[in-house]
Amino acid sequence: MKVLGIESSCDETAAAVIEDGNKLLSNVVASSIDLHKEYGGVVPEIAARSHIESINPVINEALEQTKTDWDSVNAIAVTNGPGLGGSLLVGVLAARTLAILKNKPLYAVNHVEAHVYANFLTSTSLPGYILPKKAPEFPCLALIVSGGHTQLVLFDDHFKYQVLGRTLDDAVGEAFDKVAKIIGLPYPGGPSVEKAGDVGDPSKIKLPKPKTSGKYDFSYSGLKTAVLRAAQVEIGKDHTFPSHQLPGELSEAQKANIAASFKYKAVEALVDKTLLAFNEFAPKSVVIAGGVAASKELRRQISDRLPIEVEYTDIKLCTDNAAMIATNAYYQMTSGIKPVDPYSLEINPSLKM
Ligand code: KG4
Ligand code: ZN
Repeated sequence: MKVLGIESSCDETAAAVIEDGNKLLSNVVASSIDLHKEYGGVVPEIAARSHIESINPVINEALEQTKTDWDSVNAIAVTNGPGLGGSLLVGVLAARTLAILKNKPLYAVNHVEAHVYANFLTSTSLPGYILPKKAPEFPCLALIVSGGHTQLVLFDDHFKYQVLGRTLDDAVGEAFDKVAKIIGLPYPGGPSVEKAGDVGDPSKIKLPKPKTSGKYDFSYSGLKTAVLRAAQVEIGKDHTFPSHQLPGELSEAQKANIAASFKYKAVEALVDKTLLAFNEFAPKSVVIAGGVAASKELRRQISDRLPIEVEYTDIKLCTDNAAMIATNAYYQMTSGIKPVDPYSLEINPSLKM
């Protein structure tokens, strides 16, 4: 059973083919990230235009790499939300058109939910991938951490889950991106803050531990503001100092120390709540999903503190991709969820889990 996945919710145009819900056959991602770098964040109009240019070549490449002809594609899966409206439209219209022309069932996929499904891919013919040895068992506790979302979800089975808590303000990936901007590191902030922090001393900068009233909720706006204040103090200025001038005043060592302290605190808050939920619900497996799951600091703290062995998927499957979309759709099919109408599927930019 082969599923073609299509993803275009943010700045990555992606297509992939997976087989039987566990085998990755192709994973093609064209990113417009370089075009957004000078703006320090994704510009929706630029992203949408890039999707239009890339969508057909990316889909063709995903099929060609696996020598898959249309006859052997059993279903098409597409992200219909959440995400940027203009970006989602391109993928959804491409998938609807192909489903009608090629007469294939079409599955609509929630992007955030799909991040978890990257962890169900356990084998591949592609070089350079390190995948988990087995699929997660239910009940499964999932920490979903991306540029737009931060939430803890308890899955009793496929598509049977409860969201235990989520961020009350910024997502953790967004906080990484904003901290990068404050200290003058390139976008996306996750990888650049993580790299800078590797050579910094976290004990040199005191940052508060993020607090929330909800047991499993998260909050990152206070920590981000604390980073801004700490950077001002480091160069001997007060809150009136223009923040866009900060990067020019900070030394490389100061940037590295701030990055090290921030990434430690940001990740500690994630692992605190994951451990709390693990102790309360005793799940059979724990997975981390989403772009921030690529963080080595997160993997280290999870492995150090959780009393269960957590398997991690390849970094290329943590950030946005279409393999996770196709995998989610495979499990929709095998769970008896009906395909959607290709003539009427709409985008839903604010879709929630
Ligand atoms: O899942 P994703 O690719 O897109 C969304 O659905 O949002 O996540 C992107 C986010 C960005 O905020 C990026 O800074 C963050 O993931 N990220 C990381 C790392 N790699 C990407 N954050 C921390 N450490 C990383 N190594
Ligand atoms: Zn994502």
